[in-house]
Amino acid sequence: MRLDKYISQVTDYSRAEVKKLLRNNLICVDGESTKSASLQITNAQTVSVDGEALSRPGARYFMLNKPQGYICATKDGEHPTVIDLLDEPNTDKLQIAGRLDIDTTGLVLITDDGKWNHAVTSPKRDCKKTYYVCTHSTIPDNAAEQFAKGVMLDGELKPTLPATLEVLFDNEANLTIGEGKYHQVKRMFGAIGSKVEELHRHTVGGIVLDETLEPGEYRPLTPAEIELIKP
Ligand code: URA
Repeated sequence: MRLDKYISQVTDYSRAEVKKLLRNNLICVDGESTKSASLQITNAQTVSVDGEALSRPGARYFMLNKPQGYICATKDGEHPTVIDLLDEPNTDKLQIAGRLDIDTTGLVLITDDGKWNHAVTSPKRDCKKTYYVCTHSTIPDNAAEQFAKGVMLDGELKPTLPATLEVLFDNEANLTIGEGKYHQVKRMFGAIGSKVEELHRHTVGGIVLDETLEPGEYRPLTPAEIELIKP
């Protein structure tokens, strides 16, 4: 695809504005400044505007509202997978950016852009995920304090990183975490003596689950949503 067309597709810049950026040496392809609007770019190249890298040309990014009973894996002999819900070509190229348990519902991001996936899932990147949690009994008064300090999970050597708990009602809260250990939210509540009955992820790195998506439905991310996660 032509460089100017690609930039205007994945950003809010018009083709005329892109030409101006090119003239002002603000566009780089693979780290090299270019003035050529007609330069042909491929999937493997990284384009940046004023030092900010854009998503890969041609890469695919989706949000899906995961229903219960589906697993976050590309293949499974026993249960249906979130990939089975996609009506897309070449699904074998797609990766799930952050898995949810079979009984957890909500926002799942799916992409074939490995760098972008890494930015969502790497604990070092601290990409925040917010979960709505409903517990069996009243959430302890000091839960927010304990999660802010970090709690020890069974089998781990270090406490969890600081997390934010917003209690909504006696047994309902939003929990925001930056890591994604196995069953992390359920184990965090377990560590303070609570049992999670319902878990729904609604936000990942500033991308909010589209409320118009019914469970099982999905849509491509908008360019603005893709840019919220910096590879
Ligand atoms: N934490 C959990 O315990 N389960 C999930 O599905 C996601 C986060």
